Amino acid sequence: MIVQICIGSSCHIKGSAKIVEKMKNAIELYGLENEITLAGSFCTGNCNRSGVTILVDDETVTGVTPETFTEFFKTHVYSKLEGKCRP
Ligand code: FES
Repeated sequence: MIVQICIGSSCHIKGSAKIVEKMKNAIELYGLENEITLAGSFCTGNCNRSGVTILVDDETVTGVTPETFTEFFKTHVYSKLEGKCRP
């Protein structure tokens, strides 16, 4: 799975650096180092007022904030890799 967190200026202002940190921690916590390639992306053209844009393979998720990161991770990452996650 490839996860690309937008680090464009709009997403940067909305906390993309914190989300990168949370994603790194979640990957380590669930032992997904070999399952997820984490990358940054420039503006994906999905800037909005609610939060950061994250691409999960070919899926675009918008409006992620540090506060909603856990829900994003459960729904868009963990659920797809559940069998490969460390319990
Ligand atoms: S800066 Fe992130 S979608 Fe535009």
